[in-house]
Amino acid sequence: MTDRKKMTLPMLFEKVAQGVPITWLTCYDYPTAYLQDEAGVDMILVGDSLGMTMLGFDSTLPVTMDDMIRHAAAVRRGAPHAWVVGDMPYMSYQPSVETAIRNAGRFMAEAGCDCVKLEGGAEMADRVAGIARSGIPVIGHLGLTPQSASALGGFRLQGKTAAQAKKIADDATALADAGAFAILLELVPDRVCELITERARGTIIMGLGSGPKAHGQLLIYHDAFALYPKFKPRMAKVFADAGAVIRQGLEAYVTEVTDGTFPAPEHWFGMADEAYDELVSLLDA
Ligand code: KIV
Repeated sequence: MTDRKKMTLPMLFEKVAQGVPITWLTCYDYPTAYLQDEAGVDMILVGDSLGMTMLGFDSTLPVTMDDMIRHAAAVRRGAPHAWVVGDMPYMSYQPSVETAIRNAGRFMAEAGCDCVKLEGGAEMADRVAGIARSGIPVIGHLGLTPQSASALGGFRLQGKTAAQAKKIADDATALADAGAFAILLELVPDRVCELITERARGTIIMGLGSGPKAHGQLLIYHDAFALYPKFKPRMAKVFADAGAVIRQGLEAYVTEVTDGTFPAPEHWFGMADEAYDELVSLLDA
């Protein structure tokens, strides 16, 4: 896909208008970004999930802005065409509107992101409005919001009752009114996602584990390619067992180095007899 055009906001809205689902994956590093860009993935989320998938923490909370900028810049270098989303980490936007604008600006200026994403509903509408007013496209994130997992009772389905679902729908309206061009619904029932998508006027609704009716789908890359060892969420389909392929290769490496099969002559460089003999005499002198 080398002749691919750079994804733009109008192109994303055009996909929605045409009824073509938008593809979105998380990504945290240069080589994976390169592959995703080549495969034609529309959007890439440099998620603070990197705290778990890349750094081995049990939650996303320890992730810092500096971590995010480092990874987002690497992804941008690998994916010049996809729409790259910088995920605002814990406490990078909660303290104040000004903090939110400054950190959103870092994603754009230092990492070359196309937009930012933050978690939370109506209570975050002023942060969304401030960022949008600063000329930075912003995505809201509702339903299961991992930075609030403790308050939500863990990583579990949200919006099961009508009252809970109404709150999510109201939050979606508040974020859209504040200027969010898109909203991610994570782990809400399919019919809740469908209703919110049907009623969204001019806002792109993306789903993660929320059924097929959103304008597009997000998956965590490590779940979709079996690269996260701790658990496999039900909402994730494994599209290729990259973990198994890599493990097999690692076992072969250990075996071949141990039994002397690797390296073979094609993997090293020799030295001419004359130079070798001269070297030996130099060493013996
Ligand atoms: O950090 C992330 O990858 C996310 C997804 C869980 C939506 O925010």
